[in-house]
Amino acid sequence: MEKRRILTGDRPTGRLHLGHYVGTLANRIRLQHDYDTLIIIADIQGLTTDFEDPRRVSTAVREVALDYLAAGLDPGVATIFIQSMVPAIAELTVIYSMLTTVNALRHNPTIKSEAQQRGYTDLSYGFLGYPVSEAADITFCRAHLVPVGEDQLPHIELTRKLVRRFNQLYGQVFPVPEGLVGRAGRLVGIDGQNKMSKSLNNAIFLSDPPETVSEKVGLMVTDPQRVHKRNPGRPEVCTVYTYCDVFGFDAESVAESCRRAEVGCVQCKRKLAQEINELLTPMRARRRYYENRPDDIFEILRSGTSRARQLGEETMAMVREALSFNYFRL
Ligand code: TRP
Repeated sequence: MEKRRILTGDRPTGRLHLGHYVGTLANRIRLQHDYDTLIIIADIQGLTTDFEDPRRVSTAVREVALDYLAAGLDPGVATIFIQSMVPAIAELTVIYSMLTTVNALRHNPTIKSEAQQRGYTDLSYGFLGYPVSEAADITFCRAHLVPVGEDQLPHIELTRKLVRRFNQLYGQVFPVPEGLVGRAGRLVGIDGQNKMSKSLNNAIFLSDPPETVSEKVGLMVTDPQRVHKRNPGRPEVCTVYTYCDVFGFDAESVAESCRRAEVGCVQCKRKLAQEINELLTPMRARRRYYENRPDDIFEILRSGTSRARQLGEETMAMVREALSFNYFRL
């Protein structure tokens, strides 16, 4: 039997961090052998914000690819590819744009909060419409499963609607895809306030060296009422505890020894930093390997993109047939 298919990916806007890891990367790595896994590096989507600086986007494509390989995506099984080089995605975007309304996009909560965060009031057509293009990303290869962070769920909801609409109007071409959110849909940043994000300066990057990880963990906010080690702490308000819980680092015993005032915050932080560094150690080794082999990365992207293009052509043949737009062969 053919494997079911995963499609997911990222905008190339910078280095990946632990938020990406718990939200979606860990799921991708875990599932890559069981599913036919496609990973999109969405450079066109990167233009929604960086349209004045495409070079920044193309540079980041290589960084993200390196992050993927370091994190443990296996190029022997996963197909990593570049969005702008798959014409089917652009073609499907145009078709889907007929099947969604401007108002539905205006009410998309992720679009709203991203626009607000950037201070955009009058949105570009491309920014407002990027969820439609994301539906094309997901469906050009007829994917079944989409491992993502929580913020992407509205886009998957839209994709499901578009697919149902398309199938109902024109004939059964696409499976209705499902979202899959990781262990923590969103990881709080080291500030303990906001979602981890590069732009909020509260991220621990997968590429951070051990000392940086220790420093950043050192900055995390613990229970403000716990001034001395002898004060019993409240793990439920402590960022260090949250991380232990999310990453499965012995959270129960951390909480207990905190409540009983047996272990102090400094010691707790040291332990967490050590655990995170242990998680990152194999990633650092793979990063070193690929850093010295840029040609390998290039070849992985080239062959992945070539396969994605082929899948896209297959899908477009089905789409044209369904629309009765299969006029002739060229
Ligand atoms: N919008 C996603 C993000 O910012 C990236 C993305 C682009 C994506 N296309 C996708 C995610 C398709 C899942 C499926 O993280």
